[in-house]
Amino acid sequence: MRQKVLFEGAGQLEYEIRNIVKKADSLQRLGISIYYENIGDPIQKHAKIPDWIKSTITNLVNDDGTYGYCHSKGIPETRRFLAKRTNKRGGAQITEEDILFFNGLGDAISKLYQFLHSSSRIIGPSPAYATHSSAEAAHANAAPLTYRLDPENKWYPDMEDLHNQIRYNPNIIGILIINPDNPTGMVYPLETLQKMVRMARDYELILVSDEIYNNITYHQTRSYALSEVIEDVPGIALSGISKELPWPGARCGWMEFYNRRVDPDFSALCTALEDVKMTEVCATTLPQKAIPLILSDPRYPDYRLALNQAIGVRGKRIADILGKVPYITFNETFGAFFNTIVFKKGVLNRSQYIKTDNPEVKALLSQWIGDDLALDKRFAYYLLATTGVCVVPLSSFHSQLLGFRVTLLEEDPELLVSIFEKIRDAIEEYCTSA
Ligand SMILES: Cc1ncc(COP(=O)(O)O)c(C=O)c1O
Repeated sequence: MRQKVLFEGAGQLEYEIRNIVKKADSLQRLGISIYYENIGDPIQKHAKIPDWIKSTITNLVNDDGTYGYCHSKGIPETRRFLAKRTNKRGGAQITEEDILFFNGLGDAISKLYQFLHSSSRIIGPSPAYATHSSAEAAHANAAPLTYRLDPENKWYPDMEDLHNQIRYNPNIIGILIINPDNPTGMVYPLETLQKMVRMARDYELILVSDEIYNNITYHQTRSYALSEVIEDVPGIALSGISKELPWPGARCGWMEFYNRRVDPDFSALCTALEDVKMTEVCATTLPQKAIPLILSDPRYPDYRLALNQAIGVRGKRIADILGKVPYITFNETFGAFFNTIVFKKGVLNRSQYIKTDNPEVKALLSQWIGDDLALDKRFAYYLLATTGVCVVPLSSFHSQLLGFRVTLLEEDPELLVSIFEKIRDAIEEYCTSA
């Protein structure tokens, strides 16, 4: 090529959540059954959509109006509905003009970082969810900036670490909160959020809160939305229906802008995001039409409550199986539908293995396992090859810790127990093998 073709930040884009599937596919071709614990898709884990939701969507499909473009910011009635829902919480007050729809929250996230000045950074939690950390890192062509979530303290944020990084790095212009968190299942305590708001005010930062799991909590836990705590600080909440309805294939998510007028730079960012959506015409129409109909249906609260309770029960079952394994730090989860398990310091080494007699599996393992492979990836590949259980190594979440993420989504209780017993037995065999 006459010039460089690829933009410089491209090397920062990494998505092991799907990368590991390529390895699972090669095992499947050998006839090995795969248990997909890598991706947060309730539908893939056999979630059933109730008939009343299906008939709401069918009615929309039968309406010709559904097939057109919609307003570039999103359908006005849907934005009014969502603004009213936010305002009811009693915190930051918005109008439909403060809401902007995207084709999935992933689309919103990549646009958000794309429009930041390349030297301006948003610090986010580590373990880091790659859709955020890769896009943020790519915009700056640098490694992601992260604050530590502490597995020895219920995965709560290390506030001293966050504060120090903000104090000594003037390029940080915002704090990302993922609440409830992916990949840890932690729900930010109210006081932590209030401290973050104070930090944002003191250092003139923007708060970004990914709330895609806001209504997915259990064990009597409630997740506080950014609008409830933000007061006069500029902020963006990110929401969507992929997890909550759940309808990940709809590709529908939105941003809510809070206190848009308090800062001209923040206001310019919000306007730029609206302008880019205008150049793309609009986001998907069908799910936007469905949102008010489904979320305001009197059957919806009980439906979501039952799903949340079921996630909580699965979380307890997993805790019963893995909670006492000596080689790992295991935290109970309170929101979203993931758990991240950490190997204790010094437990993993390069000589460990899980026995297999299958020569084809052995050949694949020797292809995958190089000398510089992260130790938790090494474990994850052995686990995958010998049991078919596909988890995501923790080092792919931009973390120094070694471990892996699982989901709390398997709907079949016997299968759930069998998957987690396989994981438990694999940890024990691997950690005692050398
Ligand atoms: C924290 C978080 N934000 C955003 C997304 C992306 O959601 P969407 O399917 O709407 O693109 C996910 C998906 O797993 C997620 O876990």
